Amino acid sequence: MLLENKVALITGAGQGIGRATAVRFAAEGAKLVISDVDEAALAETKAACGDAEVAVVVGSVAARDDVQKMVNAAVDGYGRLDVLINNAGITRDGLTTRIKEGEVRFMSDEKWDAVLEVNLKGTWLCCQAAAVPMIKQKYGRIVNTASVAALGNVGQANYAASKAGVIGVTKTLALEWARYNIAVNCIAPGGVKTRMTAAIPEKVMAGLLSHIPFRRIAEPEEIAAVHAFLASDEASYVSGQVLFVDGALTAGA
Ligand SMILES: NC(=O)c1ccc[n+]([C@@H]2O[C@H](COP(=O)([O-])OP(=O)(O)OC[C@H]3O[C@@H](n4cnc5c(N)ncnc54)[C@H](O)[C@@H]3O)[C@@H](O)[C@H]2O)c1
Repeated sequence: MLLENKVALITGAGQGIGRATAVRFAAEGAKLVISDVDEAALAETKAACGDAEVAVVVGSVAARDDVQKMVNAAVDGYGRLDVLINNAGITRDGLTTRIKEGEVRFMSDEKWDAVLEVNLKGTWLCCQAAAVPMIKQKYGRIVNTASVAALGNVGQANYAASKAGVIGVTKTLALEWARYNIAVNCIAPGGVKTRMTAAIPEKVMAGLLSHIPFRRIAEPEEIAAVHAFLASDEASYVSGQVLFVDGALTAGA
């Protein structure tokens, strides 16, 4: 098993990619702390993990105290924290600019702040809290979550900024934390079959698929498999990387 006795914290584990990752990590022998803002969804994820040891923490990655509870659950419950999967994320889409009644209107500050707060600051808060036990242990593997949207995407300036920021944080921490034997990588998925993409109208999705060389979006389990590899010692010399998991979407870019 790839993750036998490793202790992993997975954020945003209530559904989608986070849940698929929890189920895969449980099957690979990991001991888990799963967290999300959605308590009912977390209970379903825990049930899906079968006999694995799973601690549940309800809380937001954007709240420092909640994040500390997540890390404490690992350290107090299992004695260490080996792996952080920084997966929680949100979208609040909208065009940056619209002309209404002759006036220029921009994306609201609410939309901008909400996405940056969860996706970028949340990632950083979780990295900080996780680093404390990881530095003491001189061992850690962190996998952050960017997106192909980091390269720019119409209607997602806030999301693109947050995910490009995640890439910057990932590469910086990889450089700074190598001395503590902490590897920091990030994945950049294209489309994945989760709630996040379920709302995309059929016509728009058909257009998107026509640009993806694989002509399909990913199953959440295909992202979980990449998480398992990057979290494992099979990836022991991989750090500071952005792994695009996108069916070759960005290969020609
Ligand atoms: N689905 C895609 O096509 C896609 C593509 C690229 C990147 N991603 C990224 O992958 C990650 C997972 O996305 P998904 O598609 O599984 O989304 P999802 O909406 O299905 O799941 C996200 C989970 O995060 C939780 N969450 C939201 N805000 C939170 C907060 N403040 N604190 C803790 N948990 C919170 C939600 O309750 C939910 O359970 C996100 O970072 C997303 O940006 C997704």
